[in-house]
Amino acid sequence: MATAPAKLILCGEHAVVYGRPAIALPLADIRATATVAPLPPGSGTLISAPDLGGQWRVAERPDEPLSGLVMAVIERFGVPVDLEITIRSAIPIASGMGSGAAIATAIVRELLAYSGQTLPPAAISELVYESERGYHGTPSGIDNTVVAFEQPIWFQRRPDLPPLIEPLPIGAPLTLVVGDSGVRSPTRLPVGAVRERWQADPARYEALFDRVGALVAQARAALAEGNACALGPLLDANHELLREIGVSSPELDRLAAAARAAGALGAKLAGAGWGGVMLALTTPEQATTIADALRAAGAANALVTTIAATG
Ligand code: MEV
Repeated sequence: MATAPAKLILCGEHAVVYGRPAIALPLADIRATATVAPLPPGSGTLISAPDLGGQWRVAERPDEPLSGLVMAVIERFGVPVDLEITIRSAIPIASGMGSGAAIATAIVRELLAYSGQTLPPAAISELVYESERGYHGTPSGIDNTVVAFEQPIWFQRRPDLPPLIEPLPIGAPLTLVVGDSGVRSPTRLPVGAVRERWQADPARYEALFDRVGALVAQARAALAEGNACALGPLLDANHELLREIGVSSPELDRLAAAARAAGALGAKLAGAGWGGVMLALTTPEQATTIADALRAAGAANALVTTIAATG
């Protein structure tokens, strides 16, 4: 069995599609898994996804992004074709937590392990990026990168070069509360809407993206210092900019406000927006109070997670 983690974008989503930096964190406790079992010769390749309500033969749905990924890996790495891949995931779909990237990463890792091979994280990330393109249209690549590297990363696209990917120093553990709005929102919809608005008024959106990029750089410094008090207001400011970019929602605004009212150091939507999750930065002592406040404000789920300091 191979697994891969969920992820959160700490700051910089959307602007990252347009070349500004963003910071992403893996959530080690929430994972997708893939297992492979051989089938009799001539059976072909079957994908079973009981949690996602589906089972299909890759040859019958070649345009489905996971089918495309599986066929590409089997062909490129000489994996035997007669097998069943079973996918399970504890990551809510269309929630901003990288469920698609985690499932795809677990599948690639498992197919490679099944055929006695390994690849470095960067190569796995590239394979997954191709399948993310099938789901999301114009992904920046941050989701597949943080999931495949499984460490906090600084990510920035560069013209004519591979993206800049740097492991991020974290000076002190971070306590986060993740609140799920319960509204499912496929990433490609807000990403596509932002593209249309940017095309209609590039100057306005470039200026908003610049402001996001500037606060992501400040967040990096606060993280390195382990200074949660400095990081909190930057997250609040990022939420405001995401509202101006047009990807928040009444539910996400309500949850962010409830977290702040309950004592969070900062709160913002996390991921593509319109639905999915928000995150609140807190002290460990205040975390349960904030999770309770989020549930009281209508969160479908609220969980507390800790990002470890780096050595
Ligand atoms: C999605 O997790 C993050 C977005 O910035 C899209 C992307 O980077 O591809 C909204």
